[in-house]
Amino acid sequence: VSLKGKRVLVTSGPTREYLDPIRFLSNASSGRMGAALARAALKRGASVTVVTGPAEAPLPSRAKTVAIRTGLEMLRETLRRARGASIVIGAAAVSDWRVASPAKKKIKRSSSDLRLTLKPNPDIIKSVARRRRPGQIVVGFALETHDRLTHAAAKMKSKGLDLIVANGPSALGSDRSSATLILRGGWKRELVSVSKDELAAAIFDAIEDLA
Ligand code: C5P
Repeated sequence: VSLKGKRVLVTSGPTREYLDPIRFLSNASSGRMGAALARAALKRGASVTVVTGPAEAPLPSRAKTVAIRTGLEMLRETLRRARGASIVIGAAAVSDWRVASPAKKKIKRSSSDLRLTLKPNPDIIKSVARRRRPGQIVVGFALETHDRLTHAAAKMKSKGLDLIVANGPSALGSDRSSATLILRGGWKRELVSVSKDELAAAIFDAIEDLA
């Protein structure tokens, strides 16, 4: 089935988890995979919304961009828009934890230790999959350092995804990566040293075969 006229929702980039109004915990996600997915979906005639944390990769101007900062904001904006989407792809590097009680005012510098309590953030793509409507396709990524396929397949199942893209740590911030696409039925496709644009095209090829 073609992507033409379909609505595609992509989460992208890192999230920021604030300690106080100024300082935050985050990660080095560039948002390049999300941007590549947005370009590929537009090229196939879909309308695209990207819910994105502060990322360096530019998004195509034809994509609707929803800028968020924290994981909780990403959850809210993603769930709100997921209902109307045929395909939801979680390419964001959501912070696994957030600061339990961020300070309202800038924390004063001092020479004593600062203790932070971190709480787990909600799993956004899993929440989308749990609420999925019939026919909706939910896709995730899995960055694994070892036993890539086993761990990715387990993740696909526990999150309730239709397709998971398993890649290694070299994918982070890089232009090329190797990845394995795994579909729910067990179908696999291995891609070696491809660009993120090529990977995005392969992901939509698999989705078009599914739908
Ligand atoms: O569990 P793990 O973080 O390895 O899963 C990665 C996949 O789950 C990615 O698709 C990522 O966007 C998504 N994810 C999410 N919300 C989280 C953590 C991960 O949507 N809190």
